[in-house]
Amino acid sequence: MKRRQFVATLGAVAVALCTAFPASAQGNSDVVKVGLSLSLTGPFASTGKQLEEGARLYIAQHGDTVAGKKIQLIVKDDAGAPEHTRRVVQEMVVQENVEVIGGFALTPLALSAAQIATRSKTPTLVMVAATSSVIDASPYFIRSSFTLPQVTIGVAQWAPKNDIKKVATLVSDYGPGIDSEKAFISEFEKNGGKVVEAIRVPMQNPDFAPFLQRVRDLKPDAVFVFLPAGVGTQFMKQFSDRGLADAGVKLLATGDVTEDDILNSMGDEALGAITSHHYSNAHPSETNQQFVEAFKKEYNGRRPNYMAVAAYDGMRILYNALEATGGKTGDALLEAMKGQKFESPRGPIEIDANTRDIIQDVYIRRVEKKDGELYNVEFDVLKAVHDPGRAK
Ligand code: PHB
Repeated sequence: MKRRQFVATLGAVAVALCTAFPASAQGNSDVVKVGLSLSLTGPFASTGKQLEEGARLYIAQHGDTVAGKKIQLIVKDDAGAPEHTRRVVQEMVVQENVEVIGGFALTPLALSAAQIATRSKTPTLVMVAATSSVIDASPYFIRSSFTLPQVTIGVAQWAPKNDIKKVATLVSDYGPGIDSEKAFISEFEKNGGKVVEAIRVPMQNPDFAPFLQRVRDLKPDAVFVFLPAGVGTQFMKQFSDRGLADAGVKLLATGDVTEDDILNSMGDEALGAITSHHYSNAHPSETNQQFVEAFKKEYNGRRPNYMAVAAYDGMRILYNALEATGGKTGDALLEAMKGQKFESPRGPIEIDANTRDIIQDVYIRRVEKKDGELYNVEFDVLKAVHDPGRAK
């Protein structure tokens, strides 16, 4: 290709991109459209429901108008697939002129939307996708959830202090699993423990039986587990069927495995599991008790999990930012989202103004039964935890 032709082609591509992603109709109307890309069908459908319900509860409690702008929520199903996510986010930005994006139950989904967020300069609330590096994929990403290393180090520190010295790890074989495996090994071994084997299982529809058999054969003091939300019940059943607890293997995990909304359905097999995480239904603050009550009242007695909290807090970040900018969107809104600090149902949180990541307390919890129901009961806390890769 001749140079002139090449330059002309480049020019055409630039025009096409600008047309595809106009710097949206920012702040020109009385409506701010918020587009949520959620997994409402497919294997991760439970996540989409929690996210949508958390966001809608915030709007129901705080009204749908902020700084003179009406908030219009547009919800699209990404079916848990990156290619669908890219398409629905593009449609929302280009055809529907959304000025804020949110959602993303899985790391690959957030990554698939990053380029669109950047090119269209749309502030984007990452409400789950919890691999550390996700936040680097776009300067328009703000994290209202957590990172796996952030919530893993707590249980990795607790175990060696409690006579658990020999551990096998078992994680989902993709971004967040690998992040949690690395964080666990590093923190556990720094504190005197030894990881005897690091096992990775397929992300979707895993059959845990052969992996659990391997763990049993290794005779560790405990197994540390990360699995994405939604898979915990199946895991817990196989953990019990394979007789791991009877063989004296304790269960350590991140709170993704014992998430609040399905914990009761896991049954007594889950009792005694030690996890670390940033949110529990049983968090004893008044803010949380009110949140849990309101959620149950709105949604037929079902419990909110950490996804509902991240969507609820994400809406609060948006409302606070719109108030601060007097309703302006775009870069001004992004700036106003940074550095926010408030009391969430999970405890105190802060959006790090430099990294756009979240700083929050992480709790060590034990699954216990109270009034006939299972809860993640917090018994220790690590205060104001940064993503460890970025800690000051
Ligand atoms: C992720 O894909 O980043 C992810 C999904 C579910 C979780 C945690 C992380 O519970």
